[in-house]
Amino acid sequence: MNSSRYFALIPAAGIGARLGADIPKQYMPLAGQPMLTHVLTTFAAASVISHVFVVVSPDDGYIGELMAAAPHLQGRVSLLFDGGASRQESVLNGLQAIRPLVGDDDWMLVHDAARPGLTGGLIEHLIETLQDDPVGGLLALPVVDTLKRGDQRARVAQTVPRTALWAAQTPQMFRYSLLLQAMSQANAVTDEAGAVELLGLQPRLVEGSPRNFKVTLPHDVALAEMFLKEEF
Ligand code: CTP
Ligand code: MG
Repeated sequence: MNSSRYFALIPAAGIGARLGADIPKQYMPLAGQPMLTHVLTTFAAASVISHVFVVVSPDDGYIGELMAAAPHLQGRVSLLFDGGASRQESVLNGLQAIRPLVGDDDWMLVHDAARPGLTGGLIEHLIETLQDDPVGGLLALPVVDTLKRGDQRARVAQTVPRTALWAAQTPQMFRYSLLLQAMSQANAVTDEAGAVELLGLQPRLVEGSPRNFKVTLPHDVALAEMFLKEEF
């Protein structure tokens, strides 16, 4: 008796300050297509996903052209011009905007527009692992590097044991009503799991992939193109 549906919610209202391109990074061409088109295409092609919602800035000047150039997204993707000042606000505004369209127990997969390396296989792996989970969870990668905490002079203050540490990715998958409650109450969290943790719950960590990294700094662009051009 698993009748819950699965929806994607893509926050895409940032400006990409750290990347420093002359357009918001989600619209930057990567391997021939805007970064956001890669993400929307992956979700639109996943049959398990009922519909895709993308949250853009109220004054976004790029999304119209992107959609016009991608007829395969027609009917699978809806635009919400509800972006806010932070990622958390954009996600919360998006959740509120789709309130009439989703059920309390439907699953929301929240995914950064800045992670174009996501694959249909990773979406399936996340959903298969979490579909009966009472809380939900997220893709994440076990940390493999030795971690150092630095001081103001970039001198090592401490080596931090990496045992049991994971680097959080997206999608982060929670039921609609729980996520709405968590995001409404949270203050300054950087991901949905952080908001859910503040309710005293423990999201499940599901192993993701290095190709699902977040394009953040200028040197990330070449690596993202490498993953998108090759079949890894
Ligand atoms: N995001 C959003 N609304 C904001 C800020 C960010 O929807 N006010 C989205 C971004 O578009 C991105 C995701 O959240 O898809 C992850 O954020 P990040 O990688 O930090 O993107 P930016 O905020 O655009 O980049 P920067 O922090 O370097 O400015
Ligand atoms: Mg940001």
